[in-house]
Amino acid sequence: MCGIVGYNGLLDAKEILLKGLEKLEYRGYDSAGIGLCTEDGVAVFKEKGRIADLRSIVDEEAAATMGIGHTRWATHGVPNQLNAHPHQSASGRFTLVHNGVLENYHHLQDEYLSGVQLKSDTDTEVLVQLVEKFVEDGMATEEAFCHTLTLVHGSYALALLDAEECDTIYVAKNKSPLLVGVGEGFNVVASDAMAMLQVTDQFIELHDEEVVIVRKDSIVIKKLDGTVVERAPYTAELDMSDIEKGTYPHYMLKEIDEQPGVVRKIVQNYEDEEGNLVIPSDIANALHDADRLYIIAAGTSYHAGLVGKQYFEKMAGIPVEVHISSEFGYNMPLLSEKPFFIFISQSGETADSRQVLVKIKELGHPILTVTNVPGSTLSREADYTLLLHAGPEIAVASTKAYVAQVAVLAIVAYVEAQAKGKALDFDLKAELGIVANNIQTIVDHKEDMEHVAADFLETTRNAFFIGRSIDFYLSLEGALKLKEISYIQAEGFAGGELKHGTIALIEDGTPVFALITQKEVSLNLRGNVKEVTTRGANACIISMEGMEEPGDTIVLPPVHPLLTPLVSVVPLQLISYYASLARGCDVDKPRNLAKSVTVE
Ligand code: F6R
Repeated sequence: MCGIVGYNGLLDAKEILLKGLEKLEYRGYDSAGIGLCTEDGVAVFKEKGRIADLRSIVDEEAAATMGIGHTRWATHGVPNQLNAHPHQSASGRFTLVHNGVLENYHHLQDEYLSGVQLKSDTDTEVLVQLVEKFVEDGMATEEAFCHTLTLVHGSYALALLDAEECDTIYVAKNKSPLLVGVGEGFNVVASDAMAMLQVTDQFIELHDEEVVIVRKDSIVIKKLDGTVVERAPYTAELDMSDIEKGTYPHYMLKEIDEQPGVVRKIVQNYEDEEGNLVIPSDIANALHDADRLYIIAAGTSYHAGLVGKQYFEKMAGIPVEVHISSEFGYNMPLLSEKPFFIFISQSGETADSRQVLVKIKELGHPILTVTNVPGSTLSREADYTLLLHAGPEIAVASTKAYVAQVAVLAIVAYVEAQAKGKALDFDLKAELGIVANNIQTIVDHKEDMEHVAADFLETTRNAFFIGRSIDFYLSLEGALKLKEISYIQAEGFAGGELKHGTIALIEDGTPVFALITQKEVSLNLRGNVKEVTTRGANACIISMEGMEEPGDTIVLPPVHPLLTPLVSVVPLQLISYYASLARGCDVDKPRNLAKSVTVE
């Protein structure tokens, strides 16, 4: 989390940095700041709150053509003005922004900075004070910067200004994402290309433990030992319109509406010239050799992984385990003889997943990353990547990426099932076409979901989601979506499990959202609905055409039984959206969260 930017060129740095930070706000929005290299030294402006709050305190007269900026998701030190970045050294000569976590900052402070009074509660400040200390000890700035990095344990994306060298930004990366952007007469730094698309679409990827000297007409990449690295820029395949809201009030609503197009685009990207669904042969071969798949993910991506397990097991007959990444790395189960790992991550940057990936790499097992972000850390470090083709997802609550993950996993499982000669009684490509059309029907009638949100969630403090088999996984996702953006306490349960304890929480009027899309368990789930309604619950039944009953609240247009998650998630997303809106919450930027979780 946290986002950093830097600009070194000829134009007004202040505006470019602020606009860049606005595009990075999804990475954290507790506080923000910029440091500008002015004639009178580095001027720092920082403020608690959003970029809009920062904008309001930046001196419009501050003229600079070089500067750095930061938007924060607090880890060490509460979100306030003092802990906001940039941080400055004791003399004010050095100014630094940081995304990441330093594990040994206490130790570094004790060992090297006993005489220095720190101004903030952050780990970051230790870094900038260390650079100053080593410069005072006689090192040049670059040497002091690199020396500091050799002492640090942890993750960082850094940009450093030296007030006595107002033509250089010192940059470094380890584990946290960072790119350098290339322009004519200027160069930029950004956690994500989105931030600097305003000035360039040419970017250079940085690898861990690399340092970059960014001047307005040159970029020099070095390893920590000083070896120079040559690397060509790539063109970011992003359009400004992809990252704008357009006429939508919120990114989340835009992204929900994009889902039919996302499903169609995935089909196009995974078909060959004859129109057959395919995946690259090296991935197919590696999958084919595996005796068990391990799906590793967090949050919504984990929920997509649970659905993916059904696909691989039911279509291709391969056993699958799905694990939460923050648990797997530190409590690894016994692995099979020929495991194959699938990491699912919208951002491709989730630190919890990355720590597992690093361990699995050490063990030498094959790794596939399924991600929305080409060139992301989890993609670069895996053996294989499959892209989601969902376009940038900016709202913190994941919607279209979930649908894309489920669709891509369905395709991979289907292709593998065909390779194994399994008898499949359906044409996935045609079925995904039906899915896209049916999602369209749901989003075209989104006002129905607004009414449902008003009827069931207007005043409640909690809500339950229940389902059986594949619908159970959807109940987990529905609950996560609702709680993260509306702050209503929501939990998802297997329908049969409520009576083993949780049913004690059902009171008069408690909303229970019941998903019924699977014929073989529909009657059991209806039984579970009876159990809660007789205890006063207000049940919202979301069933599928063909198994509906009079009185059901929402009847979904029918799709293949395995593909129901792709449509049943859509009303859940919309209901959460409208519940959040009705409560006056910040839909796109819910409190305490960030889009890309780059700390463990
Ligand atoms: C919820 C949500 C999160 C993410 C999770 C993993 O709406 O977005 O639960 O799914 O933080 O992120 P990625 O997929 O980027 O690894």
